[in-house]
This record gives sequence, structure tokens and C-alpha cells, in this order.
Amino acid sequence: MRKIIIFDTTLRDGEQTPGVSLNKEEKVEIAKQLEAAGVDVIEAGFPITSNGDFEAVSAIAKEIKNCTVAALARANKKDIDRAWEAIQWANKPRIHTFIATSDIHMEFKLKMQPEEVLKKAKEMVAYAKSLCDDIEFSPEDGSRTRPEFLYEVLETVIDAGATVLNIPDTVGYSTPGEFGAFIKGIKENVKNIDKAKISVHCHNDLGLAVANSLAAMENGADQIECAVNGLGERAGNAALEELVMAINTRKDYFNCETGVNTERIHRLSSLTSRTTGVMIQPNKAIVGANAFAHESGIHQHGVLSNRMTYEIMTPESIGLKDNVMVLGKHSGRHAFEDRIIELGYSLDKEKINEAFIKFKELADRKKQILDEDIEALIHEEVIEINEKYILKDFHTTTGNQIRSTSTVKVVSEDEIFEEAAIGDGPINSIFRAIERSLGEEMELLDFSIKSITAGRDALGDVRVLVAKNGKKFVGKGISTNIIEASARAYLNAINKYKNSIE
Ligand code: KIV
Ligand code: ZN
Repeated sequence: MRKIIIFDTTLRDGEQTPGVSLNKEEKVEIAKQLEAAGVDVIEAGFPITSNGDFEAVSAIAKEIKNCTVAALARANKKDIDRAWEAIQWANKPRIHTFIATSDIHMEFKLKMQPEEVLKKAKEMVAYAKSLCDDIEFSPEDGSRTRPEFLYEVLETVIDAGATVLNIPDTVGYSTPGEFGAFIKGIKENVKNIDKAKISVHCHNDLGLAVANSLAAMENGADQIECAVNGLGERAGNAALEELVMAINTRKDYFNCETGVNTERIHRLSSLTSRTTGVMIQPNKAIVGANAFAHESGIHQHGVLSNRMTYEIMTPESIGLKDNVMVLGKHSGRHAFEDRIIELGYSLDKEKINEAFIKFKELADRKKQILDEDIEALIHEEVIEINEKYILKDFHTTTGNQIRSTSTVKVVSEDEIFEEAAIGDGPINSIFRAIERSLGEEMELLDFSIKSITAGRDALGDVRVLVAKNGKKFVGKGISTNIIEASARAYLNAINKYKNSIE
């Protein structure tokens, strides 16, 4: 069977999802889970874009041992130097450099002639090669590039040292038949193509990213770029879980395989959703809440007689298992630590201690602690700890005949902020009190709440999307008290905004 290289770009293109911004700890945690899942390449970020991203890419390069760690750079020396500075520590580093090659991008965005683009691509690939052995080159808007020009660019960059040629369908315009033929054309017309691997990077504007990637694979692509939960610019990238499960479930048809352990998919998907704040639609293929639910009586009857009647893959194959009560108030530190390891986390002693304290606090309020509760607790309370402003305490009164009132005490390392506000409902009043206390007014674009598990004492999981100065920030908060969860989510978003302006 042909082995397909899985290149994950959740931490780079995925982070370009509107409203998503990950801190260093969050990026490292997702990278560790990607490595544990067996992806081949992790695109850790775009180091020139911010110091924060540079630090996160360097940390991932130092932490990850088994995957290639790639960093993105435009085709200029400054970007390439910064990318190399960040990934030089990696066991297997890769510089990924790109320049647009379609007529429309060259004329209106780059304002460059095709010959200049060709020269730049050649020089910058050669420059990147002087720093790093493994060089990926992407002709941006590749699928809308004139084939003859594209062949020339690809041949030139292979001669300059590119090891991987990534063909992006940047605007998600292509269709499976067309994109497959496009890849075939490259294989047949680029003279030195046997000296490099072919990769594809498809966007999902027409909902065809996975289909286009599979068509490219059938026509000779060696590597597929994708993102967990299909995150990415606009409508996102090809979804990792859909690609991997399609290749795995239809081995008989594709005769291809990946190195991904499919049983890690569910965990990877929920970690990514929790960390990015982007919820998964219930009917999403593979990882949506309904993906393995059978509603109609006819289907249920069939599944009870033989699962294969309506199930082409099992829930277990993506790592879904029945909710089991794992821990409670009387569980000890060892049981808790064992459970964390079983869930796939590698936390140091200090973080395990912190998590254990939070676990005990939760166990006082909630009888049965399930895996999902532990995962939520680790993400919100232990991994995402770089919060400058913390909600110390609050008080809210509400009713149907009175306006809601909230008072809050928010603390930072050296200051205490206390304020009160009224509002239409408890959530509105507590958001206003937080805004007043920190002297920041945000625009609330979206608010959602769901319970993490079933039961009246379940943890409430709140996500908010706020905007300020033209930028969007996702905030997350959990608590058995939904007003507290909301306040923490709002403060989390404000913290992200404040970090972005420091
Ligand atoms: O969509 C795109 O073209 C990209 C490139 C940088 C590969 O993300
Ligand atoms: Zn992209």
C-alpha cells in the first residue's frame, strides 16, 4: 500500500480561522497530541507574524521528536531567516516558503511580472536550502495558475533544492476531476518531478477540500495538507479526520494508508475544539455528536442486528467509548494521575498538582467526574494559565421583576479591580461589571453555552466571540455555575485582547 504523508496545518492555517488565537502552551499541547496521533509533519506556525508565534514554533521544535516540524515563510530573506531561527532546534526541520503564481495574484497582489516571480522563487528556495535540507515550496493560488508557467516554476525550484512541491487550491475553486487532472499534468510535464514529493493543500470554499485532496492522491500526490476539524482561512482546510478515515475505511478502493492512529481522532478533535473555541457542528462527518447516532427505528433495528447495516466504521475506531464514571470525591492522587496519562497528557509534576487541586474543588460540586470533565479542567485550568486578569469573586442578583445586578472583583498580579453594573439579565450585568472594572468595552458577537456531560451538576462550557478594534477574540470558561462560566469566558477574551496589544 502507498503511504500518504499527513501534513497537519492546524497550528498555522487553522490558526487563521477568524477569532482563533492560540498561546504557546495551547499550541504545544496540540502539537504533542498530533505527534501522539502519528501525523508526519506539523506546520507549527508562521514565525515572522508575531513574537508570540515565533516563541510557540521554537517551543514546538524543541518538544516534538517524531514529526517533521515546518514553519511558513513568504519568499523573502527576512521571513525565511525568522522561520529557520524558530525551527532550527527540531529533529526534522522544514522551511515552507511560498509565492503566488496565478496571473490575478501576480498582477494585483504582488504587482510583479511572471519572470520576477520565477526569479524570486528560485533565489529564495536556494537561500532556504542553504539553511535547511528539507524545503517545501508552494505556488500560492496554484490551481488557478497557467499550467505552462506552473511547470516552469516547479522545475526551477526543484533544481534550486525544493524537496516538496505543495500545490494549493488557495481559494477552494477546483473540483475533484479537474484537480486530479491538474496533479496528473504536473507529474507528466515537470521534467525533474521524480526528485521531489508532490503535496496538495485544499481549501473548502465549495465544500470540496477533502474530495479534491483524495482526487489528487489518486493522481499521484504523496502528501496531503489538512487541519483538525477542517479549521483554516474562510471555510477552512481539508479536515484531517475526514481524510484519514476516508483513506482508512476505503483502503480497498484507494490502496493507500496513513500513519495516523485513528483511535486518537476523537480526542484530537475535542482538544482542538476546546482550545480554539470553535465548536463542532453536530452533523459533522466523523467527529460531530451525531456522526454515530442512529435516530430512525429502521436504522436502530438494523444496527442492533448487525452494526454494518448502517455503520461503515465503528465509533471505537475513532476512539469513542461509552461514558464511564472514572473518578469522584474520594479518588486519590494516584488514580487521578493514572487517568491523566491514560487520556494522553504528559503534564509535569507541578501541573499535575494544580490539576489535582482543581479536580478536588470540582468533585465537591459534582458527584461523578467523567473523562470529558477532566479534559475540560486540564485545558481551562492548567494549560491555559497565562491569564493576566483573574476573576476572584462575584455576586449577582437577578429575577423577573428586577434588573440584574452584578459586582465583580478582578485581580492581576499587583492590582485589584472592583466594580458593579446593572443589565438585562445576569450575564449582561456581569459582562458590564467586568468591562467597567478593566475600563474596556468589547463588542459581543456571539455567545454559546453547552453542558460538557449530562446531569444537573454538569459543567457548563461557555464560548464568547468578541470584537475590538477590528479584531476578533474567542473566550472560553467552564464552571458548574453558568454565570461564573460566562464571566470567565468573557474575561478570557479580554485577556487575549490585552495580550495582543502589549
Ligand atoms: O492556501 C494557501 O495557499 C496557503 C499557502 C501558504 C500554502 O495556505
Ligand atoms: Zn491555506
